[in-house]
Amino acid sequence: MHLTRRLCAPLSHFTRMKSLGLFAALTVLAAHSAALRASDVPAVALSSGGSMPLVGLGTWQVTGDRELEQALDAALEAGYRHIDTATIYNNEHLIGKVLKRWLSEGKVKREDLFISTKLPVYAMRAADVPDLLNQSLSRLQLDYVDMYLIHMPFGVNRESYNGVSIVAIGPNDTDPSTDHRAIWDAMVAEKEAGRARALGVSNFNESQIERLVKHSAVPPANLQVELHLFHQQKPLVEFCKKNSITVTAFSPIGSPGSKWLIKLSGKELPDLLNVPEVLEIAKKHRKTAAQVLLRHILQKGIAVIPKSSTPARVRQNIDILDFSLDDEDVASLDSLDKGIDGKLFIMKNIGGSVNHPEYPWTKLQNEATS
Ligand SMILES: NC(=O)c1ccc[n+]([C@@H]2O[C@H](COP(=O)([O-])OP(=O)(O)OC[C@H]3O[C@@H](n4cnc5c(N)ncnc54)[C@H](OP(=O)(O)O)[C@@H]3O)[C@@H](O)[C@H]2O)c1
Repeated sequence: MHLTRRLCAPLSHFTRMKSLGLFAALTVLAAHSAALRASDVPAVALSSGGSMPLVGLGTWQVTGDRELEQALDAALEAGYRHIDTATIYNNEHLIGKVLKRWLSEGKVKREDLFISTKLPVYAMRAADVPDLLNQSLSRLQLDYVDMYLIHMPFGVNRESYNGVSIVAIGPNDTDPSTDHRAIWDAMVAEKEAGRARALGVSNFNESQIERLVKHSAVPPANLQVELHLFHQQKPLVEFCKKNSITVTAFSPIGSPGSKWLIKLSGKELPDLLNVPEVLEIAKKHRKTAAQVLLRHILQKGIAVIPKSSTPARVRQNIDILDFSLDDEDVASLDSLDKGIDGKLFIMKNIGGSVNHPEYPWTKLQNEATS
């Protein structure tokens, strides 16, 4: 009885989102046991078919064998089925190893998993798409991914990547020939061949997405984009909603492990986990600041993919389905949005990206080059 009540409040929010037409066919199933089951996690329908769990595990900056294994085991045990990776995270092979163990032991079925990976910035050419996706599938030991995303809208020369870090790509290695429509057509061919169940883009702006929507009979089903308390992306989310594109928030708790990278952009990383309003709301609901930050996004029908390699935090980050932020909480958190000024990742350190014709954040171009 108590456990059923646990999900009542969130369910009303998701139902309301559905009636608003925010994302269709959102499903929340009732909890039956104390341990969260994968089916307890709400999912959102994708325009190209199937659905995506709204809570996933981020894996950027997790490259240690043991570290990743521990995090992924904790996640799968806690009910996560959505795992986000990318070619440039250099961990697909480790994820593949853990998934293979879970699949071969019969602890999880392939059809219950939702694995997303990304076409890297050094392969932004139509001819590179089949090769790069095949490499990802081979490392992940899978026949298909559930979501294949174009990681960045800009491109660099393939030979400029040292196989370790995209931050090391020199400022003169940009490849201005990037043709989104041609790359997208190659992605659609992969979907038709069954190697990717759904397709999406990441770090694209509205006009870049619109170009693909107008171009293809298979428009992007998902946008993965930086989205958190200080950068809530309200206009972009509204645009996606109108175009039946689901949104996934990356860095949903403000990427506290990325101080080193933000410094490269000449910025300081704000500490979202210690914002007074967040702490106050957390105290009121007896939840942590991270859980409030995640719940604020989730309640809008946006997927969250927090990264943690600390098992207790992995569990904490999915334990956000048994409470609901009220209108006052939401209004307070909504008001903390700083718009473009709250953006953390300018990505100017990727092969001269700011000078690329497809650099997406024109408002930041001057700031990024200064
Ligand atoms: N498409 C893109 O361009 C792009 C860009 C960035 C990220 N992403 C994806 O989005 C995922 C998430 O973004 P992110 O890794 O930048 O940042 P994030 O998830 O906002 O933050 C991760 C950091 O928060 C800490 N943390 C996690 N849970 C916590 C908790 N409950 N309490 C306190 N600290 C906690 C983690 O530390 P511990 O690990 O030590 O627990 C880690 O340092 C990535 O991993 C990646 O999959 C995509």
